[in-house]
Amino acid sequence: MTQHDIVIKALRAKFADAPSPDPDGPDLSSLLHLASRGSCRDFTADPVPRATIDILCATALAAPTKSDLQQRDIVIIEDPGLKSELLGLVAHQGWTRDIPHLLIFCGNNRRQRLLHDWHGLDFANDHLDAFFNATADAAIAMEAFIAGAEAIGLGCCPISAIRDHAQKVSDLLHLPDHVFPFVGLALGYPKATKQQNSLRLPLSVTVHTDRYREDNLQDNVRSYDQRREQEQPYKQQRLAERYGESDAYGWSLDKARQYSVGERTGFGEFIRSKGFKL
Ligand SMILES: Cc1cc2nc3c(=O)[nH]c(=O)nc-3n(C[C@H](O)[C@H](O)[C@H](O)COP(=O)(O)O)c2cc1C
Repeated sequence: MTQHDIVIKALRAKFADAPSPDPDGPDLSSLLHLASRGSCRDFTADPVPRATIDILCATALAAPTKSDLQQRDIVIIEDPGLKSELLGLVAHQGWTRDIPHLLIFCGNNRRQRLLHDWHGLDFANDHLDAFFNATADAAIAMEAFIAGAEAIGLGCCPISAIRDHAQKVSDLLHLPDHVFPFVGLALGYPKATKQQNSLRLPLSVTVHTDRYREDNLQDNVRSYDQRREQEQPYKQQRLAERYGESDAYGWSLDKARQYSVGERTGFGEFIRSKGFKL
């Protein structure tokens, strides 16, 4: 099997309706690490050299940035005490306990505001967009970091749970106004050579041509649920103590149960306390 075929196989493993390649199209081999990727939550104890982390930060920050504003920063956690304090905040996610490296990706709208001070110009965009653009920039950098790390054989898993304690994280990292934690990132050498295949919704649900559609959405989600139950079953049902054990338990029920409980309901208040006008 060629690398090209392996890419197609990986996409078919993820998407019920994976597209077929155009025989005259470009060689797809270099998409393999993206097509077959998965989050890693189990690492060897081997440290990743700081120089490698620095290279990954640089490649992550080479990713596109809204209007060239560069509104994202990465905090590499080196201090063992600080690391254990931060990881203590997400200890309910047991897998985070021994992660070799932790980075925090932040949105940063502060620099932009400073530019206005320095040049004596009004900042006329003190509204939701300021927060939104910095968040998007941080997300893009996180993904570019992950793609780079996975391409060189490292494993990663984002940790949004650090935002459950946004104020504490902000205090620990000395984040000033208009700088906020977006996500933590676990990094290290994966113990397993291959991560679990995480199925995705069919592309007919998430990719549209010319206009948004929801044709057969519920049927498509139902089929996806069934495939998840067969190929990627949940180890346990969420909130079973509240909702009981369901005979059928797929993605849609898990996600509905997840968001039937308030999550980070104070985050808006935290962001406003950082000076954003939403
Ligand atoms: C912004 C963001 C935050 C995430 N936060 C967490 C987290 O707190 N804990 C966790 O175990 N996984 C977290 N993940 C990983 C997702 O659960 C994972 O990407 C998803 O289940 C799909 O699996 P895959 O990455 O293996 O394809 C996060 C992912 C993203 C993009």
